[in-house]
Amino acid sequence: MTIGLIAGTGFEHFEALEVADRLSLSTPWGDPSGPLLRGHLGEAPVLYLARHGKGHALAPHDINYRANIAALKEAGATAILAVYTVGGITAPTWQPGTLVIPHQLIDYTWGRAQSYSLEGDVIHVDFTEPYDAKLRAALCTAAAPVQAAAALPLVEEGVYAAVQGPRLETAAEVDRLERDGATIVGMTGMPEAGLARELDLPLAALGLVVNPAAGRGQVSLPEIMAAAEAGRGRIMAVLADAVAALNAS
Ligand code: HPA
Repeated sequence: MTIGLIAGTGFEHFEALEVADRLSLSTPWGDPSGPLLRGHLGEAPVLYLARHGKGHALAPHDINYRANIAALKEAGATAILAVYTVGGITAPTWQPGTLVIPHQLIDYTWGRAQSYSLEGDVIHVDFTEPYDAKLRAALCTAAAPVQAAAALPLVEEGVYAAVQGPRLETAAEVDRLERDGATIVGMTGMPEAGLARELDLPLAALGLVVNPAAGRGQVSLPEIMAAAEAGRGRIMAVLADAVAALNAS
């Protein structure tokens, strides 16, 4: 198993990774966000892609999700672990520093190329369970001691609302997301997860709460950046443990 790691805000660099080479791939769908870093996390082979590209240049709606997933597949990834930075909608997920392993999602994005379907060859994948159970279990097991050591919550289920952005939501929009059943909100989870399903790549995600969503508490941009920065070490530790366990299984 070779895990593809995709991470976003706060993760342009992934210090824990031992990089062997950088793959600059081009796909029939265009170019991915940047080079794929091929290397090892501990003993386990991994491929790493920074979702927003160099210098965080790509806004969520400008990311070429099709190229990203196709490039990971082409480079040999057999599963994907994605990192999301999210706003927390419902207690206890609104506390910054909380880790959430979503089990469901709702897609509110629009205007993004969301399928590998071609004219005359339309793909209709089953997406009842968008996140892979085995990968989720590995993330939950790895995250429990890391969060316990930091005295921060781990929420082992969540409904991820993928919104268009790049602006944050109004309070009424977040109220609607909550009524819909969403517990966390971010901008990059779709079409990423749907495309991975189309290419038969199991995917699970680790959500780091960096702010209470709109209307759920006051947070400043510096506080959001601080929460993202404070979560980096824990995210890397969780991914390293999860990847090691999956590699050994
Ligand atoms: N809303 C949408 N996306 C986000 C948020 C938010 O509050 N926080 C981090 N990503």
